[in-house]
Amino acid sequence: MDIQTKIGVAGAGTMGTGIAQVASSAGHEVIVFDNSRDALDRSATGLRKTMNRLVEKGKLSEQDAKSLLGRIRHVTGADAFRECGMVIEAIVENLDAKRSLFNEVEKQVDDTCVLATNTSSLSIASVGGRCRLPGRLLGVHFFNPAPLLPLVEVVPGLDSEQGLAEKVRDIVKTWGKVPVIARDTPGFIVNRIARPFYGEALRVYEEGIAGFAEIDAAMKTLGGFRMGPFELMDLIGNDVNYQVTASVWEQMFYDPRYRPSITQQRLFEAGRLGRKAGRGYYAYADGKPVDGVPAEPGPHGEEVYLRILCMLINEAADALYLGIAGKDDIELAMTKGVNYPKGLLHWADELGAREVYESLCRLREDYREDRYRPSLLLKRMAADNGRFFT
Ligand SMILES: NC(=O)c1ccc[n+]([C@@H]2O[C@H](COP(=O)([O-])OP(=O)(O)OC[C@H]3O[C@@H](n4cnc5c(N)ncnc54)[C@H](O)[C@@H]3O)[C@@H](O)[C@H]2O)c1
Repeated sequence: MDIQTKIGVAGAGTMGTGIAQVASSAGHEVIVFDNSRDALDRSATGLRKTMNRLVEKGKLSEQDAKSLLGRIRHVTGADAFRECGMVIEAIVENLDAKRSLFNEVEKQVDDTCVLATNTSSLSIASVGGRCRLPGRLLGVHFFNPAPLLPLVEVVPGLDSEQGLAEKVRDIVKTWGKVPVIARDTPGFIVNRIARPFYGEALRVYEEGIAGFAEIDAAMKTLGGFRMGPFELMDLIGNDVNYQVTASVWEQMFYDPRYRPSITQQRLFEAGRLGRKAGRGYYAYADGKPVDGVPAEPGPHGEEVYLRILCMLINEAADALYLGIAGKDDIELAMTKGVNYPKGLLHWADELGAREVYESLCRLREDYREDRYRPSLLLKRMAADNGRFFT
């Protein structure tokens, strides 16, 4: 695959439009297909607006903007994918819809065309399972907004051909992205490891140890996170964040580590979805918080920060232990995908594996809940005074 490869994008929504922009700005011709005329129009108009903005800001020349738009074609039929070397699917998150789309695409493209799904919550095995040639399908998970966020999780499925992930990783790299390879497991890397940032913060809040503004302040001032968990949940949307948590929890066969929170479920049910609804944990006017977030982490700030951080490190260590991804990719995923100030495994080295392990053991002892079970890798490292990086 090279710059001459025509890229097909199925779905002209938020992600499809962003992915089309990324591929075109790297020099590919891009065919965007959607079954809704309105979605295609919105996508084309949105891209024109984005280009105008970039030109106004001096980030792109008028000529480059024109060429980028000129390489993207919006179409109403998947037959236009005929000459594509790769088709990336970003349609609705529904297994049957994705399977039938790929069946249709397979009738159009030749046998060497790579098929990729941008699914966030379905397994790659299930999406590829009904393909005529499942070996050429894999996950290519972009983050929103795709043109701005550098991370892309490349996820081979059970039947993906040997070497396909590496081939796709290399092409995604030429698009200026930071690709990491992840195993086909719930949440892949980022949406799995990041769960305690929200879940443990909610738990601490529910127990009355700290208020949500104090927890946000603790994570920002003591941990250096750009946003606190509650601010971030309000930005992501309490509907989206709740549903991701519930989906990972169910797919993990109800492992208590990933259990959703009733507090967040109630916000979701009440329509307090966050910034987009004007109300979540905080109140918003014109998309900005009304009250601001107090800068004080409160009397339990240090305890709260360490508790959430140790839970995050435990997830990262366990993901490494279970071979979800390599340690460099785990660090890249969390720093480039969700802007963590440091990789969690480097953070563990700073704190000391024993310190992290003992914090988790104390929580487990206090609560007697499996939620706090330390990763076996962390336990072994604590015993040997081990480090993730030398
Ligand atoms: N939005 C995010 O933050 C995000 C991030 C990463 C991955 N994803 C994944 O990307 C995919 C798309 O998400 P989105 O947010 O862009 O959704 P979206 O609703 O903005 O866009 C989906 C588009 O697919 C079209 N569509 C639906 N069924 C179709 C079909 N059978 N054939 C052709 N087009 C069809 C719709 O008309 C719509 O334009 C989903 O799988 C989602 O899980 C979303």
